[in-house]
Amino acid sequence: MKFVSIIMGSKSDYSVMKACGDTLASFGVPFELIVSSAHRSPERTKNYIVEAERKGSQVFIAAAGMAAHLAGVLASKTTKPVIGVPMRASALSGIDALLSTVQMPAGMPVATVAIGQAGAINAAYLAMQILALSDETLQEKLLADRVAKAQKVESDSLEIETIL
Ligand code: RP5
Repeated sequence: MKFVSIIMGSKSDYSVMKACGDTLASFGVPFELIVSSAHRSPERTKNYIVEAERKGSQVFIAAAGMAAHLAGVLASKTTKPVIGVPMRASALSGIDALLSTVQMPAGMPVATVAIGQAGAINAAYLAMQILALSDETLQEKLLADRVAKAQKVESDSLEIETIL
């Protein structure tokens, strides 16, 4: 079965990354969400990638804070797309994780999204856009979502104009 893997460096990332899983679930996309750290449990992380690929994982989403190496480690172990979500977990408010995640050397890409909740949700959307390349039903759902978003902007605008 095709699915998306979400790996968090710590349980403390879950309050933000829940939105990633919720977004995938709202489109009916199967996912697996686990905690595994590049630094604290490197063997578990390595073993998970092998096992997840064997079971059908198509896209890996890695969320980590501070000196965030999780997405890079995943990228080193798979040729499936890896999406990195920088977590706001230290005094540097996620800038540390953003730079650690985004600054990959040439030939080892990590598609890095925004720090925090917007990034968690966009990671889900990006994963679905990748899956939709070979899934017409999912592509139609994503298009319908775009139409709904455009309609909301219009109705929000009308509401404000009415108030003003
Ligand atoms: C990272 O360090 C985790 O992804 C988390 O964002 C941050 C802090 O982890 P905890 O100390 O809360 O477990 O590896």
